[in-house]
Amino acid sequence: MNVSLIGMMGSGKTTAGRLLADKTGRRFVDTDHMIEEEKKMSIADIFSRLGEPEFRGFEKEAVKKLLKTDNLVISTGGGLPIDVENMDNLKKMGPVIWLLASPRATLRRVSKTEKRPLLDVEKPLEMIKLLLERRERCYGRADFKIDTTGKSPARTADEIMKFLEECSHDGHKP
Ligand code: S3P
Repeated sequence: MNVSLIGMMGSGKTTAGRLLADKTGRRFVDTDHMIEEEKKMSIADIFSRLGEPEFRGFEKEAVKKLLKTDNLVISTGGGLPIDVENMDNLKKMGPVIWLLASPRATLRRVSKTEKRPLLDVEKPLEMIKLLLERRERCYGRADFKIDTTGKSPARTADEIMKFLEECSHDGHKP
């Protein structure tokens, strides 16, 4: 069973995801890294040279590849679950956890705009609010939601573990 983390850029998917992977004996993968390695290009270059629609196609390919895997913690790019088929596929692989954070906390955590061309704008806080508003309904299809504002990655990872344990005790597959 894989565990997928979804949510906006800067919501803590990578840091909490790595800890969760360590604690649960899973391998950590990040869809953006998969794409960068496969295409031998940075996310910023893909956006600027090929455009966002092409990048979204690469995300779909990455998710399809992951369908054949097991025992992973998958950190997904912030826009990946907006595609219905991507979200359906993540849910086929196991529980999907939505990490959210306030727009201000999100902005504070997002330091590397090279990987986040969508926030390389004059008013990034406004952009975060807009994206969050547009994406909330899709993110809401997750099996579990954690507000990470003011929480350490370790605490977030622990809360996810607790959720996973409760699911296994209930014999309930999210
Ligand atoms: C994006 C989020 C980024 C990256 C790309 C687009 C988005 O990933 O996939 O810049 O649309 O929200 P992170 O969420 O890992 O920063």
